[in-house]
Amino acid sequence: MSKSGPSSTDASRTHATTSRGGFSSSLGVLAATLGSAVGLGNIWKFPSLTGANGGAGFLLIYLLSTLFIGLPLMVAEIAIGRQARANPISALRQLQPRGAPWWLIGVAGMAAAFLIMAFYSEVVAWVFAYVAKALSGNLLSSDPVQTQASFDALVRDPVQALLWQWVVLAFIGGILLLGVTRGIEAATKRLMPLLFLLLVLLGGYSLTLPGAGQALSFLFAPEWHKITPAVVLTAMGLAFFKLSIGMGTMMTYGSYFTAEQNIPATATRVMLADLSVSLLAGMAIFPAVFSFGFQPSAGPSLVFITIPAVFAQMPGGSVLLAAFFLLTAIAATGAMLSLMEVPVVILHERWGLSRPRATLLTLLILGLLGAGCALSQSTLATFQPGGRTLFDWADYLSSNLLLPAGGIAIALFVGWAWGERAFAAQLSNHGQLGNQGLARVVSLLLRWVTPVLILLVMLAGLGVFSGA
Ligand code: PFF
Repeated sequence: MSKSGPSSTDASRTHATTSRGGFSSSLGVLAATLGSAVGLGNIWKFPSLTGANGGAGFLLIYLLSTLFIGLPLMVAEIAIGRQARANPISALRQLQPRGAPWWLIGVAGMAAAFLIMAFYSEVVAWVFAYVAKALSGNLLSSDPVQTQASFDALVRDPVQALLWQWVVLAFIGGILLLGVTRGIEAATKRLMPLLFLLLVLLGGYSLTLPGAGQALSFLFAPEWHKITPAVVLTAMGLAFFKLSIGMGTMMTYGSYFTAEQNIPATATRVMLADLSVSLLAGMAIFPAVFSFGFQPSAGPSLVFITIPAVFAQMPGGSVLLAAFFLLTAIAATGAMLSLMEVPVVILHERWGLSRPRATLLTLLILGLLGAGCALSQSTLATFQPGGRTLFDWADYLSSNLLLPAGGIAIALFVGWAWGERAFAAQLSNHGQLGNQGLARVVSLLLRWVTPVLILLVMLAGLGVFSGA
């Protein structure tokens, strides 16, 4: 592949090398990175997977994966991005030993981004639709049959499913066209704290419901026999998805990091804040599940059917319900923006498309791919090759296959190809911070432990060892 983008002289291409956007302050870096991590993963995916996979055991494996696999990889990706100050493909080409094909990680990352966005945009579409419907007051009910019926009426209607997805794509496209700093940073910095506050209130309230005790033991007292290899793979996949790693998103955001930013400290803060949002979402949802007779294993509909039940009990419930989904929509937007950024910056810097054109092309591809996921609950509901709908395939393949495989490759790249000295220079800001010892430990982990662990979990989860 020729290096057309960054070395060209035409105006838009020159822009790519000479005036790349970037985050303007330390708080901006933190907010944008957190904005990528926090999203539907916390509020939609974490509760539904925790519920469907037995609760506490799943949560424990998820925590371990986040700490020992996710965090080191997040640090690694950000370090690569900041060193190279380029999109994932160019970054790896720049840092890799001559002639090695590590840049393919960037290509796989772009594929993963499209796959995730295809189904993610549809779930954001449901959230947008719920904001509008909540305001009409029709969603509030603590009757499981009724809240499930409201959800089904939305997702089983192909016209609504598609139209809301297009609304989402147009909205995200609009924000991205404003540019990296203004668009992403401004939106996320202001609104994340509000979501957090609302979740604290909601979690606190939910814990006063009669099913709270049962919910807490579901979340925190593991039933060991429920932990199967497939559950472990799903939990690890969630850790990748949650931290936006394994596909170049954090590499891309790393390329916008300021030179002074402390990478390991930022990654740790993001990981902890992200985890608290997920746990709060769990606290808000599971007491309601056990109080009103929902099924914890309801799957993708879980948050949409339980949250209206929690608010149904409160004064001003409709407005609060709308606020909840609005803030969720905003969190999801931050995550979508970071997903979009991967193909957009690659198309811009490597293919020489202007940012607006790169954005439009990405949206166009997404409109096509996304339609398959949008219609998975209606027109295409019976189209289930290999027992999964297109929506489920996009979700499964990205989290359980592409992201972990990307994680293995990134760990191997940093551990074996890039070199510990360069890695340590990034973690310590060229010796200004005392992170050298940490760099040594993370480097050893990435070299020997992380790739092997991910591979074992993947093989076991895919049934290779059991012959299933
Ligand atoms: N971390 C986001 C969430 O949990 O909602 C989803 C996501 C964003 C995954 C960006 C991957 C990514 F690159």
